[in-house]
Amino acid sequence: MTFDPLTIRKDFPIFDRSIRDGKRLVYLDSGATSQKPRAVMQAESDFYSQHNAAAHRGAHQLAEEATEAIESARAIVANFLGGATDEIVFTKSSTEALNLLAYSIGSAPVGNRFHLKAGDEIVVSEMEHHANLIPWQELAKRSGAVLKWFEVDKDGRLDLSNISEVITSRTKVVALTHQSNVLGTINPLTELVERTHEVGAIFILDACQSVPHMSVNVAELDIDFLAFSGHKSVGPTGVGVLWGRSNLLAELPPFLFGGSMIESVTMTDATWAPAPRKFEPGVPNMAQIVGLGAALNYLTAIGMEKIHEHETHLTEYALAKLQEIPELRIVGPTDMSLRGGAVSFTVGKIHPHDLGQFLDNAGIAVRTGHHCAWPLTRKMGVASTTRASFYLYNTTEDIDALVSGIKDAQKYFG
Ligand code: ALA
Repeated sequence: MTFDPLTIRKDFPIFDRSIRDGKRLVYLDSGATSQKPRAVMQAESDFYSQHNAAAHRGAHQLAEEATEAIESARAIVANFLGGATDEIVFTKSSTEALNLLAYSIGSAPVGNRFHLKAGDEIVVSEMEHHANLIPWQELAKRSGAVLKWFEVDKDGRLDLSNISEVITSRTKVVALTHQSNVLGTINPLTELVERTHEVGAIFILDACQSVPHMSVNVAELDIDFLAFSGHKSVGPTGVGVLWGRSNLLAELPPFLFGGSMIESVTMTDATWAPAPRKFEPGVPNMAQIVGLGAALNYLTAIGMEKIHEHETHLTEYALAKLQEIPELRIVGPTDMSLRGGAVSFTVGKIHPHDLGQFLDNAGIAVRTGHHCAWPLTRKMGVASTTRASFYLYNTTEDIDALVSGIKDAQKYFG
C-alpha cells in the first residue's frame, strides 16, 4: 500500500472541520498531542456500548469481556514494542509511568537491587522534558543520591565525550529521552546503554516522542524500562505505558496501592500480585486502554517504517524551507542524521507567543514556549521557541503554509 497522507487524513474526523472563520486546519502540534483516527474513537465507543464492566473483577459475562478487551490491548502493546505481555503496565500517562519508576525505586528497601543510598548516582540529560527530569530530581532529594547529567552542545546533540565520568560505578539509574520534544534530536542509544550496563545500572528510556514515530524494539535496544503515552500515538488521553524487563518488574516495589494489585490482605499487611498487576491498582482506564490497542493496530497497519520515512521527508523539507527565511534560527540539529520531526525555531525579535497567535489566525497550530523542557531552552540560549511537529497526516503543503505564515508575520511585526 502506498503511503498517502491525504488518504490517511480522511481517517481523522478533526480534519473535516475548519479553524478561525473557515480556514483549513494545519495541525503542526502532534509533539504535544496527536489527532485521533475514527478507529480509536469507535473502539472506545464500542467498549462502552458493548462490553463495559469492571475488568479483573466480577463473575459475569461483561466483566469477562472487559478483561479480555484489556488483555488483548496489552498483547497488542507488547507486540508493538517487541516485549512480553506481562511486561506491559498500563498507567494514566507516560508522566505517571516515569513517576511510578522514580517512586518505586525510591521505596526499594535495603537488599533490593533498586535500593538507593546517599552518594549513589542518577543520570539524566539537559535534553529531558520535565516529566523525565523532576521525578529524578525529587528522588535524588529524598534518597541523598546525586543527580548528574549529560550536557547538550550548541547543535542540540548530547555531549557524550565524558560518558565515563557521567556514568560511573556509582550510577544506579540512567534515564534519558529517545527523541527530544524540543530539538528533534534522536539520541544514540547503543553507547549509552552499553556503558549503563557495564557499570551495573538500569537504563530507562523516555520514548514519548519516539514510539509514535518510528519502530522501537525494546529487545533490540537492550534497555530496561521504557515509557510512552497513548495520546501522542493517535490513541486516547488517559493512558500511558510502562514497559519493563520481567525480572526487574518482579523486584520493583509497587507505587500505588489498592484493589486488584494484591495477592492477600489482612488488617495489618498485604502481599502483591505478580507484575504487571501489582502496578495496576483500581479499575483500569479500560476504554482508553482498548483505544490504545486500536491506535497501535492502526499505526501497524500503515507501517512504522513508512511513517518514519514520511516524517523524515517532511522534516528535511521543513528544515530547507525554514532556513531560507531571513532571521529564522533553527534551535536544534539542521542535519537529518539521528533527527526526528520536531522543529523548533525563533524568528528575529518576534516573540514566539505572538508568532503562535499570528499563525493560529491563519489556521496553523504550533506550540510555543519552553515546551516543558525549561533547562534545555535556557541552555540553547532562548527563553522560548516556536515548534512545528509533524506526523503521518501532515503534508509538504502544511509546511508551505507555515513558511508563508511566518513570512506574513515578519511583514506584520516589521
Ligand atoms: N511534552 C509535550 C510537548 O512536547 C507536552 O509538547
